[in-house]
Amino acid sequence: MRKALERLEYRGYDSVGQATVSNGKLVIKKDKGKISEVHAKTNLDDMPGHIGVAHTRWATHGAPSKENAHPHTDCDNQIAVIHNGIIENFMELRRELEDRGHTFRSRTDTEVIAHLIEESVRRGSSLTGGVIDTMRRLKGAFAIAVLSSHDPQRIVCARRESPLVIGVGEDAVYCASDVPAFLPLTNRAIWLEEDEVATLELGKVEIRALRTGEIVKRSPVEVTWTREAAERSGFPHFMLKEIYEQPQAIRNALRTQRIYHELVASRLDSAGVVYLIGCGTAYHACLAGSYLLAKLAGLRSQAAIASEFNHVHADLLTKDSVVVAISQSGETADTLNAVRQSREKGATIIGITNVMGSTLTRLSDVYIGQNSGPEIGVAATKTFTAQVSVLTRQYMKKLAEVPNAVTQVLGKQANTIKEIARKYKDRPSWCFLGRGISEVVAIEGRLKLLEIAYIPSLAYAAGESKHGFIAIVEPGYPVVFVAPRDETHTKIIGNIMEMKARGANIISLIEEGDKQIESISDDVIEMPKGIPSFMTPLLYIVPLQLLAYQVAVEKGYDPDRPRNLAKSVTVE
Ligand code: AGP
Repeated sequence: MRKALERLEYRGYDSVGQATVSNGKLVIKKDKGKISEVHAKTNLDDMPGHIGVAHTRWATHGAPSKENAHPHTDCDNQIAVIHNGIIENFMELRRELEDRGHTFRSRTDTEVIAHLIEESVRRGSSLTGGVIDTMRRLKGAFAIAVLSSHDPQRIVCARRESPLVIGVGEDAVYCASDVPAFLPLTNRAIWLEEDEVATLELGKVEIRALRTGEIVKRSPVEVTWTREAAERSGFPHFMLKEIYEQPQAIRNALRTQRIYHELVASRLDSAGVVYLIGCGTAYHACLAGSYLLAKLAGLRSQAAIASEFNHVHADLLTKDSVVVAISQSGETADTLNAVRQSREKGATIIGITNVMGSTLTRLSDVYIGQNSGPEIGVAATKTFTAQVSVLTRQYMKKLAEVPNAVTQVLGKQANTIKEIARKYKDRPSWCFLGRGISEVVAIEGRLKLLEIAYIPSLAYAAGESKHGFIAIVEPGYPVVFVAPRDETHTKIIGNIMEMKARGANIISLIEEGDKQIESISDDVIEMPKGIPSFMTPLLYIVPLQLLAYQVAVEKGYDPDRPRNLAKSVTVE
């Protein structure tokens, strides 16, 4: 099992655990740390029995620790559960179970699953029946595998939203979050569909649909991927995989617990002054956040580059100040330094990060995990849209529509974007322009092209472009306009005409059917209709991420490992 886990370590690596059954008892080894560290301490290969479950974690609820590591068990340590996903209603289920006398050992959302199955089995259900009953109580995303000392010949697994695949071997059967786990052992795989339960025993796989209870017949397919390709789920690069993971990443960001958002909102409402700080893409999330807090909550805030913060703002900090620090890694030195200085001044620190247990979480008074899952590509993509979703979740009800809109854009515009990338890949410089909230999209779009395709590029508030940038515009100069149909629409048409008059090539991101801007553009990328302008950062950034990716690939660069950059910059 350890080797299979190592092949999944790219999906999470902050704590590890395994459970097997022997002599009618569960045997569990788990601890905080990478697989190699926990193995060195506990020898994960030394576990009895021929049936087991194993997990490597990316914490969402409950910081990395031995108690929060998976598997989680019921009160009598007879049912072991491993889980990938987020149980949205875990708090109310936990309260209910505690009222009925259950004892909890962890701070995870996952543990409620073990206790719910325990109750169903106590009422006489089989293990499969217990899992089905439990799925009916759960809200959110999950892929689970369940082992019980009551039933040592079977593993029951089930999914909703989170991926789950079964591997059918000659003399073994496996289930895993992804194919790499069992690929060296078998390439015959069965993907579980939404709300399906599978009961695995040697030589037998039985799949049931939760809704109907009916048996589902599905034959294994042969996976031809190499291990590397399998880790990228068949995508040529992690960056492209992560761009396509954004619908799920945004859904997961919206699943962050209401209680934390209310806590953050109350701190922001009572603050004397609010700063949002970060570096690179995280700083761009701060810019979007500051704009949206002003527009949606009437809250004044200042976005600041973390490495400049101490020079410019630190002296103004008081105990009434609130500093929202954003960092996907939670380890960026410039951001942490600004946070430490702010703490010394008595400011309240609110952390938004993708890594539970990171230094930022330890320096924050309140922190929110953005639940994006590991981001392997150095260029931040899904973590940007997740951060903006977390920042606006409290104030925007229509956010739930964004994931499907992103899927729509990726489905409809991928080929158009590839053609535009091919057409302009050799231009020596590009410029990205937008007005209002679209300026942030332009700035982040520029960063993507610059950092992975190495094309010197500019980004401006479109209105500002005529006060300098326009001097370098000449025939064929590519200018990308982020031009949703919002209050800036009329004005941006004027800016397009100014650039067009100097011979620029106009590439416009427009709402579907926007003939006005289409007629004055050389190339257009059409976006879904009826998207409130507040959602522009979440949607209009996606084609710009894809455009940068395609240009980098067309130029023969590795988008995942751009030169001179690191995924987490831990030096000042
Ligand atoms: C963005 O694509 C870059 N990887 C970089 O600018 C990054 O956003 C910056 O280093 C901040 O990282 P953090 O979110 O981990 O703090």
